[in-house]
Amino acid sequence: MEKELVISSSEIARRVRELGREISKRSRDRLLVVGVLKGAFVFTADLVRAISIPLELDFIRVASYGADSCSSGEIRLSGDLQAAVAGRDVLLVEDIVDTGTTLVWLLDYLRAGGAGSVTVCALIDKRQRRREEVIIDYCGFRREGFLVGYGLDYGERYRELPDIYELKSA
Ligand code: IMP
Ligand code: MG
Repeated sequence: MEKELVISSSEIARRVRELGREISKRSRDRLLVVGVLKGAFVFTADLVRAISIPLELDFIRVASYGADSCSSGEIRLSGDLQAAVAGRDVLLVEDIVDTGTTLVWLLDYLRAGGAGSVTVCALIDKRQRRREEVIIDYCGFRREGFLVGYGLDYGERYRELPDIYELKSA
């Protein structure tokens, strides 16, 4: 499939360093960083190395039924956290916020678990199809179109690419 480079690995690296600095400045020690699998695995790995305060790391995995390029709105947990979130300051790390359905589900889940606070860091904020009002505390880039690379997939392809591309005709 045809693809066009839209965010280079060096632009990503620069932005990740800025996000890490901002998060370090505004957060308390023992931040619980929760990456959302699989899409945010690369971003989370880079982001934790840009954060200079002590933290703990965990992952959560959710699945959404439906087509590859659009979430169906039906979310289910497919891999739970190991850490207890009760009373913790949680930094949720997402790849893309599109309609907002996945993020709302995750926020509800973390709050139901008694998280003391939840802040959100998203690599990409897409606004055109947003259906839920959500606050993204730390945003990497604002961008539309269907994106792959740097952990982002289309039908499980392209996750390993170091740069971010827009897929044409996805
Ligand atoms: P939402 O629930 O509609 O906000 O969708 C968010 C999820 O859809 C993300 O966590 C991604 O897994 C997936 N997604 C949305 N847009 C893209 C994209 O452009 N590339 C790859 N995955 C995407
Ligand atoms: Mg996905």
